[in-house]
Amino acid sequence: MCAKNSNTAQMFIHTPTPDQAFETVLPKPEFDAAVAEIVTWEGYAPTSCNNLSAMAVDLNLGAIHYKDESSRFGLGSFKALGGAYAAAKLLHRELSKAGHDVSLSDITVGRARNLCAKVTLVSATDGNHGRSLAWGAGRFGAACRIYIHKEVSEGRALAMEELGATVIRIDGDYDASVHLARDEAEANGWFVISDTSWEGYRETPGHVMAGYGVMMDELQGQLAEAPTHLFVQGGVGGLAAAVAARARQNWGETTPKIVVVEPDLAACLYASGQTGVRTSVALEEETLMAGLSCGEPSEMAWEILNEETTAFMTVPESQVAPIMRLLAYPQGQDQAITAGESAIAGLAGVHAAAQQDEWRKALELGRESRVLVIGTEGATDPAIYNRLVGLAPCAEKQMEGA
Ligand SMILES: Cc1ncc(COP(=O)(O)O)c(C=O)c1O
Repeated sequence: MCAKNSNTAQMFIHTPTPDQAFETVLPKPEFDAAVAEIVTWEGYAPTSCNNLSAMAVDLNLGAIHYKDESSRFGLGSFKALGGAYAAAKLLHRELSKAGHDVSLSDITVGRARNLCAKVTLVSATDGNHGRSLAWGAGRFGAACRIYIHKEVSEGRALAMEELGATVIRIDGDYDASVHLARDEAEANGWFVISDTSWEGYRETPGHVMAGYGVMMDELQGQLAEAPTHLFVQGGVGGLAAAVAARARQNWGETTPKIVVVEPDLAACLYASGQTGVRTSVALEEETLMAGLSCGEPSEMAWEILNEETTAFMTVPESQVAPIMRLLAYPQGQDQAITAGESAIAGLAGVHAAAQQDEWRKALELGRESRVLVIGTEGATDPAIYNRLVGLAPCAEKQMEGA
């Protein structure tokens, strides 16, 4: 299948058939363990959840809650939760296998740096996952090699180098960088810390996804009741699957309807929903939403999303800058928010759905609906943010602090 650029959002209802994947693919104890570990890390603080009441009124919805991941561990995105945790788990496994008596926290507080230095961690990334891995590897003392594709911005490459990673730029797309990282790791005895899973490679991406559970657990204390809808953006689907699974574990019967939103230029989950099986799409053009530029769904993510998703949507490139601006220069008393290009896809989906009667009806979206979106990144590339939005006051503040 081929990804196509269009001018309008697309959506179809995918009648979910909830079964046990939310528990068997990502078991509750795995989430619990990840959350218990990550909240002890130096620099941990829950991210805010903003109530965008003026926007909700404007869209004729009950509420829009925006979980703002821009401050996560000072790294700018929710990805800080996944790669670093999975790196710690792998280092613990490998050092234990080699006969060293170290605990997970020996690794995460840096007490096992000398031992970790013998291990090389590698990954492909379009920015945020690599930043998380580079940060974790730096903290724990492991060597880190990050593979990026030709369209990854210089700003994002530099951010990973500054965290101590060796960055290798290739001449292909994201999926090609995933394959190269895999091949070189195999040839050299390095370890892949990937946020996507494939046949036979599930343990580490499972840890990455378990780390994302922190956001959902924080929301339990931040929302008075479960949201009715969760619009969440998809790259390989790890984020969407993790939040869908943890939402069901936390909220049970009252779990929100899950709407997965992708750029139309990289809609592999949408294609999978249409065919009913995990389906890849060829990326012909890079989307502005760099973190979502993935053509192959994660195997584990698809197993969950196939059961949990109510609707799949795509949003066009033309929506990116307007939604970023809407958050930077909000209506009424809404909080000004600095949202990067990949942060806004879910919210772009909310706007598209709320403005069409047919889609409102299909999704049971109305004045009583409490919609949750995850603002997955801040201005992770300030130059791109500046080009698309200009320097909004909130962005200036964030960039000063970066
Ligand atoms: C900011 C941002 N949002 C969303 C995603 C999508 O996550 P996933 O690839 O797990 O679907 C990414 C992935 O890199 C990202 O960087």
